[in-house]
Amino acid sequence: MNPPTFFDIAMLKLRGKIIPDNSCYIKPNPLRNIFFFMTTPIIQFVDVHKSYRNGAQPITALASVNLRLYAGDFATIIGPSGGGKTTLLNLLAGLDLPDRGQIILNGRKMSDLSDHDLTLLRREEIGIVFQFFNLMPTLTVMENVELPLLLAHSSRTGGEHTKTLLDYVGLWHRADSFPAELSGGEMQRVAIARALAHRPAILLADEPTGNLDSENGMKILDLMRQASADFQTTVVLATHNPQVAKIGSRHFEIRDGKLTDKTP
Ligand SMILES: Nc1ncnc2c1ncn2[C@@H]1O[C@H](COP(=O)(O)OP(=O)(O)OP(=O)(O)O)[C@@H](O)[C@H]1O
Ligand SMILES: [Mg+2]
Repeated sequence: MNPPTFFDIAMLKLRGKIIPDNSCYIKPNPLRNIFFFMTTPIIQFVDVHKSYRNGAQPITALASVNLRLYAGDFATIIGPSGGGKTTLLNLLAGLDLPDRGQIILNGRKMSDLSDHDLTLLRREEIGIVFQFFNLMPTLTVMENVELPLLLAHSSRTGGEHTKTLLDYVGLWHRADSFPAELSGGEMQRVAIARALAHRPAILLADEPTGNLDSENGMKILDLMRQASADFQTTVVLATHNPQVAKIGSRHFEIRDGKLTDKTP
């Protein structure tokens, strides 16, 4: 018999409510969080560099990037293809490491975290929305939204919390549908509900409207704006689209790995 895949295990957890192993992740002290809430940046990049090797030729993806974003900031990053948007989001999500410089999330240096703690940080404090939705095709809408909670052995599965999330994105009535039965806009709303399941401090979105028509794209942006205001979530949204880049409270441009603050 083949060993179970990640997907099989996820299904088992979902159906049988298997509780994953306990983590050693130490949550930040909530008092410290309240104290620093208004004064500590949620996201801080200090002189961050990232390059890739393409044969003998190094490619600079990020060049001395400095950035500070606070709770509730909604930041858009516009730039040409290859400008460095996805690289910046990947570093923010802890999916890749900088060659130089510091990334500090909510007062914690990412370089000080173990792989395990980084995984937990990503799972619990960062929500990600992708251009192609990335929903699990054989899970229902409700199961897709519950998945991150189950993987994080949260007690908030199987009930009110998921309903609240699906109500929030206006899709509770489609809880038992499968992704293939939804429109693109609906799939992206499910993806947003899933990304918000942990009430993350940070919501990252890489071209979240790139696959939608302008009307559905606007609905998605409104929803993200609403979530940022309701939960004080710090949003970072990468886009090619100048119309999309106009929304939000902070505006950046990235070109050849150089980030420029264009906030008026
Ligand atoms: N894994 C990798 N290996 C080698 N080069 C890479 C890798 N990832 C990105 N790059 C290079 O780094 C630069 C920045 O890429 P990145 O994906 O961040 O751009 P982007 O702004 O997201 O582009 P797009 O708008 O096309 O998604 C590009 O020159 C790209 O070719
Ligand atoms: Mg990209």
